[in-house]
Amino acid sequence: MINFNIAIDGPAGAGKSTIAKKIAKELGFIYVDTGAMYRAMALFFLRHNIEAKDTKKIEEACKDVNVSIEYRDGEQIVVLNGENVNSFLRTEEVANMASATSVNKTVRLKLVELQRSLAMKENVVMDGRDIGTYVLPDAALKIYLTASATVRAKRRYLELQKKGISSNINEIEKDIIERDHRDMTREFAPLIQAEDAIYIDSSNLTIDEVVDKILSLYHSRVSACKN
Ligand code: DC
Repeated sequence: MINFNIAIDGPAGAGKSTIAKKIAKELGFIYVDTGAMYRAMALFFLRHNIEAKDTKKIEEACKDVNVSIEYRDGEQIVVLNGENVNSFLRTEEVANMASATSVNKTVRLKLVELQRSLAMKENVVMDGRDIGTYVLPDAALKIYLTASATVRAKRRYLELQKKGISSNINEIEKDIIERDHRDMTREFAPLIQAEDAIYIDSSNLTIDEVVDKILSLYHSRVSACKN
């Protein structure tokens, strides 16, 4: 049987991971966070003092990096050369390095192989930037989830505040716009809406409203397949 895979692409802070996780739980699918894989690679480069612009060193270092995924209690664990690195991945430094180094084709191809093999084994909800366009072009349901940069910056600001981390909302918005630009204009597998993806702007929607929308799209696809 061919798996029913759901691809969710969109810019940083659109709510992809929260929404993808909820959908996966509801449907009993595996959630695959591909951004976390790029972050793990970025962490490796940062730890080895390799600069994003040093293409040669980045490509050489790829040979020494092994990223794999495990699931514990339904949570995705990213394993970098044998180490669970989940707790190191959610910093702005790692996020910016991931955006800067994910333009590199060698970095991307290394991770795309892992992403495709996960989607071959199970029904997945996979989120990222190039899932519907490049990683899983045959995904049964594709969503392009976005929100205005101002709304996304505010969400991030509140998230950090909740963790007791103070930040500057204007700086966050500036960073988001820069990352969007880099992710959307890179040469290989940029962030663009797949032709057959459904566009959802979450600026004025709650998480549950977006989840419900995607679940109802899923159910209508499944019943269309049966008829
Ligand atoms: O989704 P995220 O913020 O964790 O992703 C971090 C960076 O990784 C993002 O700025 C671009 C890159 N990325 C990518 O290029 N392709 C993906 N499928 C997922 C993430």
